[in-house]
Amino acid sequence: MNIYGTFQKPIISLAPMEDVTDTVFRQIITSIQKPDLFYTEFVNVEGIYNTGRDKVIRRLEYDVCEKPIIAQLWGIKPDNFYYASRFVQSLGFDGIDINMGCSKKNVYSKYTGSGMIKADRGLVKEIIESTREGGGDLPISVKTRLGWDDYDMEWIKFLLEQDLDVLTIHCRTAIGFRSKKILWSKILPCVDLRDTLGKKTLIFGNGEIHSVKQANEYAKKYRVDGVMIGRGAIDRPWVFTGKDDFPLLESFDLFKKHILLFKEKWGDSKDFNKLKKFVKSYVSDFVGSQEIRRELMETKNIDELLSGVEKLLS
Ligand SMILES: Cc1cc2nc3c(=O)[nH]c(=O)nc-3n(C[C@H](O)[C@H](O)[C@H](O)COP(=O)(O)O)c2cc1C
Repeated sequence: MNIYGTFQKPIISLAPMEDVTDTVFRQIITSIQKPDLFYTEFVNVEGIYNTGRDKVIRRLEYDVCEKPIIAQLWGIKPDNFYYASRFVQSLGFDGIDINMGCSKKNVYSKYTGSGMIKADRGLVKEIIESTREGGGDLPISVKTRLGWDDYDMEWIKFLLEQDLDVLTIHCRTAIGFRSKKILWSKILPCVDLRDTLGKKTLIFGNGEIHSVKQANEYAKKYRVDGVMIGRGAIDRPWVFTGKDDFPLLESFDLFKKHILLFKEKWGDSKDFNKLKKFVKSYVSDFVGSQEIRRELMETKNIDELLSGVEKLLS
């Protein structure tokens, strides 16, 4: 069954975010209100087949409560996409997304991530085909940007011609001044092009969406089938409830849950600083929050952070 046929539109998802949207954070979000769809952090297909494998494949861990969930892959070698997709399928994922949008220099400089926009189109096509073959029945999607250093309708047309199930467009270019500013209006010609080409590919929009209300408004205004919310969910992990406010004590309690789950799941195998990144998510927007955050940021390990949060709850 193709998962995308089961949703009401707009399909609202949590954007893939490295060191943020791991199974722990996704379960925390699920415990309040889950979006229609989750994605893993991006997983390097080359990494699955070299010495760092153990660490890389932990990014593919998920709990069944997080379903439906899409695995996001990135890399360069079509063969590795094929084997990684077979592996992802065996793990029970609901789809595979290929990252063609990451704009970190160490990623794009190897023609991976947003570097794919500049890569040989034959290679990109081969990567999509290999992913499709390896993934069996799984739907295949691509997440990209509006272009490399300028808007690039040829790139969007090329991707639409690949008959993807979903094309997610982060409404910025990869580099240059157009990468600084979100331009949602540029997604409209992409939707028109999809319709002109007569393609069934769903189009998701992404960038600077901070609430479900805004997601619904933008979906209507820009005629997209879905919207991805990224940093809006780091700022407010309860964003998918659609409510502006979340009681402070519940927020502290959620942080405690988050810390305990992180401890149980990752223990010392994951850098403690990755957990501290969430201090601002749960401790903000009240008088004295800055001082409390400063204290919590000074903690040296999971247990110290936990007792700091427990103090807030007592
Ligand atoms: C910390 C962080 C990590 C990210 N990691 C990924 C990733 O692994 N894969 C990906 O496709 N995009 C990644 N992104 C980009 C987001 O998915 C999203 O496209 C971007 O943040 C814009 O959406 P937003 O304005 O809602 O945050 C990351 C963004 C952030 C802030």
